[in-house]
Amino acid sequence: MRRKLVVGNWKMNGSLAMLAELDAIAAAAAAHADVDAGVAVPTTLIAPAVARVPGFAIGAQDVHAAEKGAHTGCVSAAMLVEAGAVFTIVGHSERRHDQGETSQDAWAKAAAAHKHGLGVILCCGETEAERDAGRAERVIQAQVEKSLPENADGSWLTLAYEPRWAIGTGRTPTLDEISAIHSIARARMRHLVGDRADGIRILYGGSVTGDNAASILGAPDVDGALVGGASLTAAKFVPIITAAA
Ligand code: 13P
Repeated sequence: MRRKLVVGNWKMNGSLAMLAELDAIAAAAAAHADVDAGVAVPTTLIAPAVARVPGFAIGAQDVHAAEKGAHTGCVSAAMLVEAGAVFTIVGHSERRHDQGETSQDAWAKAAAAHKHGLGVILCCGETEAERDAGRAERVIQAQVEKSLPENADGSWLTLAYEPRWAIGTGRTPTLDEISAIHSIARARMRHLVGDRADGIRILYGGSVTGDNAASILGAPDVDGALVGGASLTAAKFVPIITAAA
Protein backbone atom coordinates (compact mmCIF):
# COMPACT_ATOMS: atom_id res chain seq x y z
CA MET A 1 0.00 0.00 0.00
CA ARG A 2 2.97 2.34 0.51
CA ARG A 3 4.78 3.06 -2.76
CA LYS A 4 8.52 2.65 -2.69
CA LEU A 5 10.51 5.89 -2.58
CA VAL A 6 14.17 6.25 -3.54
CA VAL A 7 15.82 9.60 -2.83
CA GLY A 8 19.34 10.74 -3.61
CA ASN A 9 21.14 13.16 -1.32
CA TRP A 10 23.99 14.83 -3.12
CA LYS A 11 25.17 16.55 0.09
CA MET A 12 27.87 19.18 -0.70
CA ASN A 13 28.67 17.63 -4.07
CA GLY A 14 27.74 18.60 -7.57
CA SER A 15 28.03 21.34 -10.14
CA LEU A 16 26.10 22.59 -13.13
CA ALA A 17 27.99 20.04 -15.24
CA MET A 18 26.92 17.22 -12.93
CA LEU A 19 23.25 17.96 -13.56
CA ALA A 20 23.67 15.91 -16.75
CA GLU A 21 23.47 12.86 -14.44
CA LEU A 22 19.85 13.79 -13.75
CA ASP A 23 18.78 13.06 -17.33
CA ALA A 24 19.11 9.30 -16.99
CA ILE A 25 17.97 9.35 -13.36
CA ALA A 26 14.74 11.17 -14.26
CA ALA A 27 14.23 8.88 -17.25
CA ALA A 28 14.58 5.81 -15.02
CA ALA A 29 12.11 7.27 -12.55
CA ALA A 30 9.63 7.94 -15.36
CA ALA A 31 10.07 4.40 -16.66
CA HIS A 32 9.15 2.91 -13.27
CA ALA A 33 5.71 4.31 -12.60
CA ASP A 34 5.35 2.23 -9.41
CA VAL A 35 8.37 3.89 -7.75
CA ASP A 36 8.72 7.46 -6.51
CA ALA A 37 12.15 9.03 -6.84
CA GLY A 38 13.86 12.34 -6.21
CA VAL A 39 17.22 13.98 -5.62
CA ALA A 40 18.12 16.54 -2.96
CA VAL A 41 20.73 18.77 -4.56
CA PRO A 42 22.79 21.64 -3.10
CA THR A 43 20.73 24.83 -2.80
CA THR A 44 22.47 26.58 -5.69
CA LEU A 45 21.57 23.73 -8.02
CA ILE A 46 17.85 23.52 -7.23
CA ALA A 47 16.61 25.95 -9.88
CA PRO A 48 18.90 24.71 -12.68
CA ALA A 49 18.08 21.10 -11.77
CA VAL A 50 14.34 21.79 -11.99
CA ALA A 51 14.87 23.49 -15.35
CA ARG A 52 16.85 20.51 -16.60
CA VAL A 53 14.45 17.74 -15.53
CA PRO A 54 11.00 19.34 -15.17
CA GLY A 55 8.54 17.01 -13.50
CA PHE A 56 11.24 15.10 -11.61
CA ALA A 57 11.25 15.71 -7.85
CA ILE A 58 14.12 18.01 -6.90
CA GLY A 59 14.54 18.75 -3.22
CA ALA A 60 16.66 20.64 -0.70
CA GLN A 61 18.86 19.22 2.05
CA ASP A 62 17.85 21.64 4.80
CA VAL A 63 15.58 24.59 5.48
CA HIS A 64 15.42 27.30 8.12
CA ALA A 65 12.47 27.19 10.50
CA ALA A 66 11.82 30.94 10.35
CA GLU A 67 9.81 32.71 7.66
CA LYS A 68 12.50 35.31 7.02
CA GLY A 69 14.82 37.68 8.85
CA ALA A 70 18.32 38.08 10.20
CA HIS A 71 19.68 34.56 9.61
CA THR A 72 22.79 35.05 7.52
CA GLY A 73 23.48 32.22 5.13
CA CYS A 74 20.17 30.45 5.69
CA VAL A 75 17.35 29.70 3.28
CA SER A 76 13.62 29.72 4.04
CA ALA A 77 10.95 27.29 2.90
CA ALA A 78 9.37 29.97 0.69
CA MET A 79 12.73 30.50 -1.02
CA LEU A 80 13.08 26.79 -1.69
CA VAL A 81 9.57 26.66 -3.14
CA GLU A 82 10.37 29.63 -5.37
CA ALA A 83 13.49 27.82 -6.59
CA GLY A 84 11.32 24.87 -7.56
CA ALA A 85 12.05 22.39 -4.76
CA VAL A 86 9.19 20.05 -3.90
CA PHE A 87 10.67 18.52 -0.76
CA THR A 88 13.43 19.00 1.79
CA ILE A 89 15.43 16.78 4.09
CA VAL A 90 15.47 17.87 7.76
CA GLY A 91 17.41 16.58 10.75
CA HIS A 92 20.11 14.80 8.75
CA SER A 93 22.75 13.39 11.06
CA GLU A 94 25.45 15.43 9.35
CA ARG A 95 23.57 18.59 10.32
CA ARG A 96 23.02 17.27 13.83
CA HIS A 97 26.76 16.57 14.05
CA ASP A 98 28.25 19.50 12.12
CA GLN A 99 25.72 22.21 13.04
CA GLY A 100 24.56 20.93 16.40
CA GLU A 101 20.96 20.58 15.28
CA THR A 102 18.52 18.88 17.61
CA SER A 103 15.33 16.91 17.16
CA GLN A 104 13.44 20.02 18.23
CA ASP A 105 15.11 21.92 15.39
CA ALA A 106 14.05 19.19 12.98
CA TRP A 107 10.48 19.45 14.28
CA ALA A 108 10.40 23.22 13.66
CA LYS A 109 11.97 22.88 10.23
CA ALA A 110 9.51 20.15 9.23
CA ALA A 111 6.59 22.32 10.30
CA ALA A 112 7.93 25.34 8.38
CA ALA A 113 8.50 23.28 5.25
CA HIS A 114 5.02 21.76 5.40
CA LYS A 115 3.44 25.18 5.86
CA HIS A 116 4.86 26.12 2.48
CA GLY A 117 3.83 22.90 0.78
CA LEU A 118 7.18 21.13 0.75
CA GLY A 119 7.40 17.41 1.34
CA VAL A 120 9.64 16.52 4.27
CA ILE A 121 12.13 13.71 4.78
CA LEU A 122 12.72 13.65 8.53
CA CYS A 123 15.92 11.84 9.51
CA CYS A 124 16.76 9.92 12.64
CA GLY A 125 19.62 7.60 13.52
CA GLU A 126 21.87 6.45 16.33
CA THR A 127 25.64 6.81 16.64
CA GLU A 128 27.94 3.83 16.83
CA ALA A 129 28.47 4.37 20.57
CA GLU A 130 24.71 4.41 21.13
CA ARG A 131 24.28 1.14 19.20
CA ASP A 132 27.19 -0.50 21.02
CA ALA A 133 25.60 0.51 24.32
CA GLY A 134 22.36 -1.19 23.28
CA ARG A 135 20.55 2.13 23.12
CA ALA A 136 19.69 2.34 19.39
CA GLU A 137 15.99 1.64 19.87
CA ARG A 138 15.59 4.16 22.65
CA VAL A 139 17.49 6.82 20.70
CA ILE A 140 15.23 6.38 17.68
CA GLN A 141 12.10 6.46 19.83
CA ALA A 142 13.23 9.69 21.46
CA GLN A 143 14.19 11.33 18.18
CA VAL A 144 10.85 10.44 16.58
CA GLU A 145 8.99 11.62 19.66
CA LYS A 146 10.72 15.00 19.64
CA SER A 147 10.77 15.66 15.89
CA LEU A 148 7.54 14.28 14.43
CA PRO A 149 5.02 17.09 13.81
CA GLU A 150 1.58 16.45 15.35
CA ASN A 151 -0.12 16.75 11.96
CA ALA A 152 2.27 14.36 10.20
CA ASP A 153 0.85 12.06 7.57
CA GLY A 154 2.17 10.18 4.58
CA SER A 155 0.98 12.76 2.06
CA TRP A 156 3.85 15.05 3.01
CA LEU A 157 6.14 13.39 5.53
CA THR A 158 8.60 10.52 5.18
CA LEU A 159 10.82 9.21 7.97
CA ALA A 160 14.39 8.15 7.16
CA TYR A 161 16.37 5.86 9.44
CA GLU A 162 20.06 6.52 8.90
CA PRO A 163 22.39 5.00 11.48
CA ARG A 164 25.26 7.44 11.68
CA TRP A 165 27.90 4.71 11.63
CA ALA A 166 26.54 3.34 8.34
CA ILE A 167 26.72 6.65 6.45
CA GLY A 168 29.51 6.65 3.89
CA THR A 169 31.29 3.75 5.59
CA GLY A 170 30.28 0.79 3.45
CA ARG A 171 28.88 -0.82 6.61
CA THR A 172 25.18 -1.53 6.98
CA PRO A 173 23.06 -3.03 9.74
CA THR A 174 21.68 -6.51 9.08
CA LEU A 175 18.27 -6.67 7.45
CA ASP A 176 16.83 -7.81 10.78
CA GLU A 177 18.36 -4.81 12.54
CA ILE A 178 16.95 -2.42 9.93
CA SER A 179 13.47 -3.93 10.11
CA ALA A 180 13.56 -3.93 13.91
CA ILE A 181 14.28 -0.20 14.05
CA HIS A 182 11.71 0.58 11.35
CA SER A 183 9.07 -1.33 13.23
CA ILE A 184 9.91 0.47 16.46
CA ALA A 185 9.81 3.83 14.69
CA ARG A 186 6.43 2.99 13.18
CA ALA A 187 5.05 1.94 16.55
CA ARG A 188 6.24 5.23 18.03
CA MET A 189 4.66 7.19 15.18
CA ARG A 190 1.41 5.27 15.67
CA HIS A 191 1.49 6.23 19.32
CA LEU A 192 1.91 9.88 18.30
CA VAL A 193 -0.36 10.29 15.28
CA GLY A 194 -2.53 7.17 15.32
CA ASP A 195 -3.52 5.42 12.10
CA ARG A 196 -1.93 8.19 10.02
CA ALA A 197 1.40 6.55 10.86
CA ASP A 198 0.50 3.64 8.60
CA GLY A 199 0.75 5.87 5.53
CA ILE A 200 4.13 7.34 6.47
CA ARG A 201 6.98 5.77 4.54
CA ILE A 202 10.17 4.81 6.35
CA LEU A 203 13.34 4.91 4.26
CA TYR A 204 16.62 3.27 5.18
CA GLY A 205 19.82 5.24 4.51
CA GLY A 206 23.49 4.41 4.99
CA SER A 207 25.78 2.79 2.39
CA VAL A 208 22.93 1.73 0.09
CA THR A 209 24.31 0.62 -3.29
CA GLY A 210 23.12 -1.16 -6.39
CA ASP A 211 24.47 -4.36 -4.85
CA ASN A 212 22.53 -4.30 -1.58
CA ALA A 213 19.47 -2.28 -2.65
CA ALA A 214 17.25 -5.19 -3.64
CA SER A 215 17.68 -7.00 -0.32
CA ILE A 216 17.35 -3.85 1.80
CA LEU A 217 14.30 -2.65 -0.13
CA GLY A 218 12.76 -6.09 0.23
CA ALA A 219 13.13 -6.17 4.02
CA PRO A 220 9.96 -5.90 6.12
CA ASP A 221 8.83 -2.32 6.84
CA VAL A 222 11.41 -0.75 4.48
CA ASP A 223 9.58 1.63 2.14
CA GLY A 224 12.57 2.97 0.26
CA ALA A 225 16.08 4.30 0.50
CA LEU A 226 17.90 7.57 1.11
CA VAL A 227 21.13 7.35 -0.84
CA GLY A 228 24.25 9.49 -0.55
CA GLY A 229 27.39 8.45 -2.44
CA ALA A 230 25.63 6.08 -4.82
CA SER A 231 23.26 8.83 -5.98
CA LEU A 232 26.00 10.99 -7.47
CA THR A 233 26.03 9.24 -10.84
CA ALA A 234 23.21 7.80 -12.90
CA ALA A 235 25.28 4.65 -13.37
CA LYS A 236 25.13 3.96 -9.63
CA PHE A 237 21.73 5.42 -8.79
CA VAL A 238 19.55 4.03 -11.59
CA PRO A 239 20.09 0.40 -10.46
CA ILE A 240 18.77 1.40 -7.02
CA ILE A 241 15.62 2.90 -8.55
CA THR A 242 15.25 -0.25 -10.64
CA ALA A 243 15.68 -2.45 -7.56
CA ALA A 244 12.75 -0.65 -5.93
CA ALA A 245 10.40 -1.49 -8.79
P1 13P B 1 25.71 7.16 1.97
O1 13P B 1 24.71 6.50 1.03
O2 13P B 1 26.83 7.83 1.24
O3 13P B 1 26.15 6.24 3.06
O4 13P B 1 24.92 8.37 2.68
C1 13P B 1 23.69 8.13 3.25
C2 13P B 1 23.08 9.43 3.61
O5 13P B 1 23.51 10.10 4.52
C3 13P B 1 21.94 9.89 2.81
O6 13P B 1 21.32 10.99 3.40
